[in-house]
Amino acid sequence: LEKEALQKIEDADSLKELQDVRVAYLGKKGPITEVLKGMGGKLSKEERPVIGELANTVRGNVAEALNRKKADIEAVELEKQLAEETIDVTLPGRPVPTGGPHLLTSIVEEIEDLFIGMGFEVREGPEVETDYYNFEALNLPKGHPARDMQDSFYITEDILLRTHTSPVQARTMNMIKGERPVKMICPGKVYRRDTDDATHSHQFTQIEGLYVDKHVQMSDLKGGVLDRFAKQMFGEDREIRLRPSFFPFTEPSVEMDISCKVCHGKGCSVCKKTGWIEILGAGMVHPRVLEMAGYDPDIYSGFAFGMGPERIAMLKYGVDDIRHFYTNDIRFLKQYHQA
Ligand code: PHE
Repeated sequence: LEKEALQKIEDADSLKELQDVRVAYLGKKGPITEVLKGMGGKLSKEERPVIGELANTVRGNVAEALNRKKADIEAVELEKQLAEETIDVTLPGRPVPTGGPHLLTSIVEEIEDLFIGMGFEVREGPEVETDYYNFEALNLPKGHPARDMQDSFYITEDILLRTHTSPVQARTMNMIKGERPVKMICPGKVYRRDTDDATHSHQFTQIEGLYVDKHVQMSDLKGGVLDRFAKQMFGEDREIRLRPSFFPFTEPSVEMDISCKVCHGKGCSVCKKTGWIEILGAGMVHPRVLEMAGYDPDIYSGFAFGMGPERIAMLKYGVDDIRHFYTNDIRFLKQYHQA
């Protein structure tokens, strides 16, 4: 009986089988228990201790074998489990796709930081604007021919999508009521009735700046702000030049060019042929604009400038089509994500 039990224990290879063996041999109805239970009636006084001892020994041996086997099986199973759950830390990771700021967002932030560094504060205003702030307050009364320069999307006769960010400057000056100087930039979306092509878009971005104080001069605009801006944005070797221009809200008005490497022969961009490329409009704030906003033009003067971040980004990174900014082809956008 003992041999048979030990063999079965040896053969068992799962905890379940082992448990069955335990029940079969050591259980309440198992043969050993039967022997021990049956001893009372059937055996003589002399036989009892002998058989009893034998049965106890067999029970002990079987129990011990069971425990040993159980420990063995458990060890094997643990081994197996550990092997299955092993993580290979040397496997290369799966790449997690990450996003990043849009090139336009990065450029706008870069320009903002640059002007914040020069003491400008950042202001925002509504994209749906009144005719008054978009035109009238900027010295563009109804019927003024220069309104055609900025073909507008009208919503009603008096409300339109702003054609530039200048109304934010008019609003800010109006709020301050000429009580203190103002030094601000306003980034934002603007809208014009244009046919979209490589260099035009019906919606684009502008950043305009305004500085109004006592004794502000053209030289503050050129040397103090525009030259610094050009050098910080494009490199210390860049030069700027101002050409006379016209805007109804500035007098005198200028357009600013930035120098670029000259190139000879075919395939040269406008910039490379002449060595100059236009990047922004600017001027001294028209006295009428100051007056309408509540500043006394005999005491205060100021300058303003306006630029398109798309154009800045196109020049800086050699982007050849403004539509790349809006079609959001991930292959285009990804090139400008910083690692
Ligand atoms: N508002 C002008 C435009 O949209 C740009 C500009 C701003 C020019 C400030 C001069 C001064 O074209």
